[in-house]
Amino acid sequence: MPNPSDAIAKTLFSEEEILSRVAELAEQIQGDFKNSDLVIVGLLTGTLMFLADLVRKIDLPMKLDFIGVSSYRDGTESAELVFTKELKLDVRGRDVLLVDDILDTGKTLQAVIEKLQSMQPRNVSTCVLLSKKAHREYDIPADYIGFEIPNEFVIGYGLDHAEQHRNLPFIGTLDVNSFS
Ligand code: IMP
Ligand code: MG
Repeated sequence: MPNPSDAIAKTLFSEEEILSRVAELAEQIQGDFKNSDLVIVGLLTGTLMFLADLVRKIDLPMKLDFIGVSSYRDGTESAELVFTKELKLDVRGRDVLLVDDILDTGKTLQAVIEKLQSMQPRNVSTCVLLSKKAHREYDIPADYIGFEIPNEFVIGYGLDHAEQHRNLPFIGTLDVNSFS
């Protein structure tokens, strides 16, 4: 197993670039959710760093909760969706901002939005750090997108490959020669 930094083929976004874009997203969100009953829902586990950096830049009252959903079992191929943690808070009548690390085919967000809608929130908005538009299969409206990226597998800043490399502080493409 290579060290996280040895698994990178090419750096896409440095720590500085990520933080500066996250601050812009936070400013936008702060403007849009004034006077609202905000619940931010992060998807485990990939949003850990993004969410931590994002919410610290949003100066608004909010509640935080997590939903666990797993779509990639042990590699880069999509697998069945499994819910691994349910929401704890009651979101009925509230404004939910759903945060995910990356919007790829859209299958994950589609399923989670459906689940959230059944809990009768006032509104569900979505925020993703990364989006691979070219790989989309489900028509998911993302209200806040950090970066559009090409259709390549990326790791770091919370994003994993087979649960590894989440601790890299920056984002890069996976070197396919680093494993196998
Ligand atoms: P989707 O359901 O196809 O949109 O995939 C979304 C989920 O797949 C994300 O929450 C990630 O966990 C994972 N994923 C998709 N693309 C990548 C990637 O390039 N690197 C790491 N995880 C990814
Ligand atoms: Mg994920």
